[in-house]
Amino acid sequence: MILIGYSGHAYVAYGICKANNIDVLGYCDGAEKSQNPFKLLYLGTETNNIERLKNGFFIAVGSNQTRQKIAQTLLVNQLTASTIIHPSAVIDATATISKNGVMIAANATINPLVTIEEGVICNTNCSIDHECVIGAYAHIAPGAVLCGNVHVGQGSFIGANAVIKQGVTIGKNVTVGAGAVVLNNVPDNSIVWGNPAKIQA
Ligand SMILES: CC(C)(COP(=O)(O)OP(=O)(O)OC[C@H]1O[C@@H](n2cnc3c(N)ncnc32)[C@H](O)[C@@H]1OP(=O)(O)O)[C@@H](O)C(=O)NCCC(=O)NCCS
Repeated sequence: MILIGYSGHAYVAYGICKANNIDVLGYCDGAEKSQNPFKLLYLGTETNNIERLKNGFFIAVGSNQTRQKIAQTLLVNQLTASTIIHPSAVIDATATISKNGVMIAANATINPLVTIEEGVICNTNCSIDHECVIGAYAHIAPGAVLCGNVHVGQGSFIGANAVIKQGVTIGKNVTVGAGAVVLNNVPDNSIVWGNPAKIQA
């Protein structure tokens, strides 16, 4: 496995690889990082490593927009990222998890009939309840709770420990602040926080 990106989010991805006994050959990034906590080999940019990436890679970038952009660039070369799942995650057999670039971190719970689209991050200890649909390249941050049948649009970010009430639809490219309690649908491209959550921008 090769990691693309090597910052805090990549450290979590590296931990998931190690927990699955997956060898990490090194990392690709725009430049070599000054911090290298896991002593990984710097391989250069991803576009200079197309042949190597054919053996498996993961886009370990927290920014939804950047992660999607890198994925689109690599798709031109018929390359799609692996999905990585921490062994402690609890995933119901009826959930559908894309095989393309999804990360499911430690202690995440994915309940029946959930759909997780490509490039999604289900971060540590998040809880995604029955029939939720998480759109491509969204990020469900640590501890967030999505009650049943919540829809999260493409590229949206649900902050740490936020709670989304059952049946709510979060639009595309939305930011939900940490700790927010979202009781109503949220339109595309908005930022909400607070309890009850209000549109801030
Ligand atoms: C919502 C968020 C993106 C806003 O960031 P920002 O635009 O930089 O906002 P600021 O820090 O400038 O704060 C602006 C104001 O909103 C308030 N505010 C910001 N986020 C808030 C939140 N989540 N809940 C309640 N109030 C919040 C601040 O207290 C501040 O109030 P003030 O003007 O009275 O001082 C950010 O605060 C946040 O919650 N990010 C999520 C963090 C997270 O979950 N990380 C997990 C990573 S895996």
